[in-house]
This record gives sequence, C-alpha cells and structure tokens, in this order.
Amino acid sequence: MKIIRCNSGNIMMVLKEVEDVSNKEISCNSVDASFEKHVPQYEVKDQKVEVFVNHVMEEDHYIEWILVDYGNEQIIKHFVPFEDPRMIVEWREGMIAYSYCNKHGLWKCDEILK
Ligand SMILES: [Fe+2]
Repeated sequence: MKIIRCNSGNIMMVLKEVEDVSNKEISCNSVDASFEKHVPQYEVKDQKVEVFVNHVMEEDHYIEWILVDYGNEQIIKHFVPFEDPRMIVEWREGMIAYSYCNKHGLWKCDEILK
C-alpha cells in the first residue's frame, strides 16, 4: 500500500499504480520525532485488536487518523483534537496499522501478531 502527498496538499491512498507518479509518496517512520509516541500500539484480545497511539491530542498537534490494512481491505478512523486515538477491529493474519500525525507524518507498526 502507498500513501502519497499531492502537490495540492491532499493525502491519498494509491488504488492503482501507474509509472509516472509526480506526487510524492510519504515514507513511514521517517520524521525525526518520538517513535513510541507515533507508531500504533496494539493489544490483541481473542479475535479483536485494540489499536491506539500514545500521542497528545492537542488543538494544533494530534493524530488525524489510524488506518488498519488487511491487504485486501483497509479500515480508517479519523480523529479530532482531544479525542482518544483508538479503534477496535477484527484480528486477521498479516494486518498492519498506520497512524498519521498532523505535524510528524506517517507511522507504521510491524505486522500485528497474536
Ligand atoms: Fe506528533
């Protein structure tokens, strides 16, 4: 999965790749900021996974969304300042979670294991 930042400032998930992509793909975990405060954390309980980010949720600095990627399906939850950046989803083999901080960009955890 690729997530790109367009020249317009929009952030988009790539559904189909073509050769000439002039917009810039966002690298995960590449900004000089606290890894622990940005990378999605998780707790697996039976067949459910609670995915969360230990990050501040201030007016000007917060987690905009968490995305769970199952490979063939993605689930995204958006947040506003002062909300708890947390979601509960079904556990499936090979799943990965991403988070997006409005100041520090895109972050990704390793595969979520039971
Ligand atoms: Fe941040």
